[in-house]
Amino acid sequence: EKGTYPHYMLKEIEEQPLVIRKIIQAYRNERGELAVDPEIQRALHEADRIYIIACGTSYHAGLVGKHYLEKLAKIPVEVHLSSEFAYQMPLISEKPLFIFISQSGETADSRAVLVKVKELGYPALTITNVPGSTLSREADYTLLLHAGPEIAVASTKAYTAQLAVLAVLAEVIAKSRSRQSGVDMARELGIVANAMETVCGSKDEFEQIAREYLDSAQNAFFIGRTLDYAVCLEGALKLKEISYIHAEGFAAGELKHGPIALIEDGTPVFALATQARVNLNIRGNVKEVVARGANPCIISMDGLAQDGDRFILPEVHPLLTPLISVIPLQYIAYYAALHRGCDVDKPRNLAKSVTVE
Ligand code: M6R
Repeated sequence: EKGTYPHYMLKEIEEQPLVIRKIIQAYRNERGELAVDPEIQRALHEADRIYIIACGTSYHAGLVGKHYLEKLAKIPVEVHLSSEFAYQMPLISEKPLFIFISQSGETADSRAVLVKVKELGYPALTITNVPGSTLSREADYTLLLHAGPEIAVASTKAYTAQLAVLAVLAEVIAKSRSRQSGVDMARELGIVANAMETVCGSKDEFEQIAREYLDSAQNAFFIGRTLDYAVCLEGALKLKEISYIHAEGFAAGELKHGPIALIEDGTPVFALATQARVNLNIRGNVKEVVARGANPCIISMDGLAQDGDRFILPEVHPLLTPLISVIPLQYIAYYAALHRGCDVDKPRNLAKSVTVE
């Protein structure tokens, strides 16, 4: 039930700190350490390459998950859209492990790949919010998101839950492989949950940003680099699916290779700046779009902020910034849709679970 909330989407955005805390609890063993089922641990151990298969928001979570598994667990990862993978399989390594990410566990495009993968005899793990769902039943292993039912068509808390579970998984494998990873993931995720609460406390500011930048916009762009780029794809998807504003996420370094031609006077450009290594680069990219007339809205991280940034996120571990930088983008999409009188929870042409290929 949505209780006092006007929409499920708003409720689900604001449940995110709670969900992260639930995940920390759910993945703790009796010694208080993060752990996963030993069989899942073994399956990851034995894999020489991981293939993440997903659609939509879950695919965007996979893009972030690749960073986690490669940086922490040191396993090479490929991320594929289910609907592409099904008809154009890449070369598969000797000992692959397939990870299906799906909030509903019912997405037909992903299931089509799972059926093929099982025919070929490869091991598969499903990360889903729905115990007993088709993708969970048909895979060898399951990790649950513990996000509680997600009703709004636009996925919000499932995305951050997917990131948290992928971070836990990467950390557990990292520890088991080398006995040290340098990241106390339970602690870092606790910090994330607190930071999420702080960000949710600024929702009036996000409503104001939506009003200022998007109430009369026809297009909007989201730019970022590395992890921020992955979050930009998700921010653009949120905005387009519920507000029907044409929105795109770009790797900021690619602007000069084409997309910058789209910038006109007043075009809203949301820029994420949470990564120290590319902070100067993204600042340069913002200057490039401003020189062409863009209306920039920079969302940066404490410690990397500069004068004129529109919103400053509390500092969290650099790998975990997507869990908090996505929240302003979720709110901005929500308010932009609300201001346009759109049906926020049930956008046109979309279904919560897409059970046709
Ligand atoms: O249930 P799934 O995670 O497999 O769903 C995948 C996509 O259909 C889903 O993420 C979709 O893109 C959402 N509407 C995004 O908000």
